[in-house]
Amino acid sequence: MRTIPTTIPTLSDGVVTLRRPEASDIDAITAGCQEPDVSRYTSMPSPYERQHAEAFVRDSARNWEQGTSANFVIVDATTGELLGGCGLIRLDSSDRVSEVGYWLRGAARGRGAMTRAVRLVANWVLRDLGFRRLELQADVRNTPSHRVAERAGFRREGEVPAPGRCADRSETMVMFALTREALDAGSDE
Ligand SMILES: CC(C)(COP(=O)(O)OP(=O)(O)OC[C@H]1O[C@@H](n2cnc3c(N)ncnc32)[C@H](O)[C@@H]1OP(=O)(O)O)[C@@H](O)C(=O)NCCC(=O)NCCS
Repeated sequence: MRTIPTTIPTLSDGVVTLRRPEASDIDAITAGCQEPDVSRYTSMPSPYERQHAEAFVRDSARNWEQGTSANFVIVDATTGELLGGCGLIRLDSSDRVSEVGYWLRGAARGRGAMTRAVRLVANWVLRDLGFRRLELQADVRNTPSHRVAERAGFRREGEVPAPGRCADRSETMVMFALTREALDAGSDE
């Protein structure tokens, strides 16, 4: 069953904008995914080559159409410069649970861009699509990602076994989650 609209939204808070990945993003995505911690902490291929970004853009378009995942690129809302990626890597319509994954270019870090992007995606999936829970799993060693989760309002639920989709990972992930109720209770919109 389709869970996401056929019209792909553009999400923005005036500082970052999330939009569908386009063919014109391929070079910037390829460059951004050279960061060693992107392959360490995500399921991105390593070494990451241009053909991987081409496949990502192609697969993202197909998955948007089929409603199986929802990948966005994050761009600077003013300049349009590509900062990274943020996507709903799982959209489980049967129990209305989704999962978010993300990465940032090295030069785009340390200024709150990902916290903003995760807030935008959380608002969209929990409020607009009516999901009840958004999960975020981060390697136990990935402190920067834990901080993003906490700043975006997720609750740390505990450690879980790694699902085995990343290249160089520990056996353990930390499960964070944001529910619709918690989002509404802490709403700062
Ligand atoms: C995880 C990752 C996206 C975090 O990037 P980041 O730049 O730390 O995250 P943010 O964009 O939210 O920025 C937060 C930082 O900006 C600072 N900041 C500045 N202004 C800010 C604002 N208005 N709001 C929030 N943070 C702000 C914060 O103090 C924080 O710095 P700190 O980490 O030293 O406390 C990045 O490390 C990454 O891409 N890693 C590789 C891939 C990865 O691990 N993906 C996650 C898999 S689960």
